[in-house]
Amino acid sequence: VCKVLIVGLGGTTRDNSSTERAVAATLRLAAALGADTLMFSGADLQLPLYAPEHQNRSDQARFLIDQLRKADGVIVGSPGYHGGVSGLIKNALDYTEDMREDARPYLDGRAVGCIASAAGWQAATTTLVALRSIVHALRGWPTPLGVAINSTEPAFDAEGVCLSPPINNQMDLVACQVVNFALAFRLIRAAA
Ligand SMILES: Cc1cc2nc3c(=O)[nH]c(=O)nc-3n(C[C@H](O)[C@H](O)[C@H](O)COP(=O)(O)O)c2cc1C
Repeated sequence: VCKVLIVGLGGTTRDNSSTERAVAATLRLAAALGADTLMFSGADLQLPLYAPEHQNRSDQARFLIDQLRKADGVIVGSPGYHGGVSGLIKNALDYTEDMREDARPYLDGRAVGCIASAAGWQAATTTLVALRSIVHALRGWPTPLGVAINSTEPAFDAEGVCLSPPINNQMDLVACQVVNFALAFRLIRAAA
């Protein structure tokens, strides 16, 4: 059976933030579908501001790019900060600039499941749309379904278990769309 690697990026400087929990939960659902998964949480994404004019990268940044290079699919989650994607997540995504000369540049050929969490529906949805626009710019394929979470309605317990059947269903569908797309693209690349 063909194994695909799905890489998750999500979180804030705060441990166990809602976006970190949502991305981790979606990765678990992808793993249940047979994918290998790797999570980059908020702590893993605290990278220096991306500097295109410099060549030197931290070990943490190099590891992120190495794993994104290997990834067949990505799950990305951001909190809505002032109506858009948080600086921490945007900065991590800016590191994909180091992949611009790759055979698969940026997020080319990878399905990307997008998740946004905010203290209200307005910022949750505007942030989801912003994330999808970023994924388009990076040549990735945002999945048809994204997940918008209103964190004023608690969605996860302290262990990270999803408390909301509708959100769990949405994460499950996103995981399924990312894994299926990854498998299809593997077949296309193998046949090329
Ligand atoms: C700097 C900052 C800006 C925020 N701006 C907004 C906002 O514009 N609209 C909103 O609904 N929530 C806003 N929030 C609340 C977060 O989006 C919300 O708490 C979210 O669920 C946090 O996700 P997390 O648990 O992953 O940190 C803001 C929070 C912070 C810290």
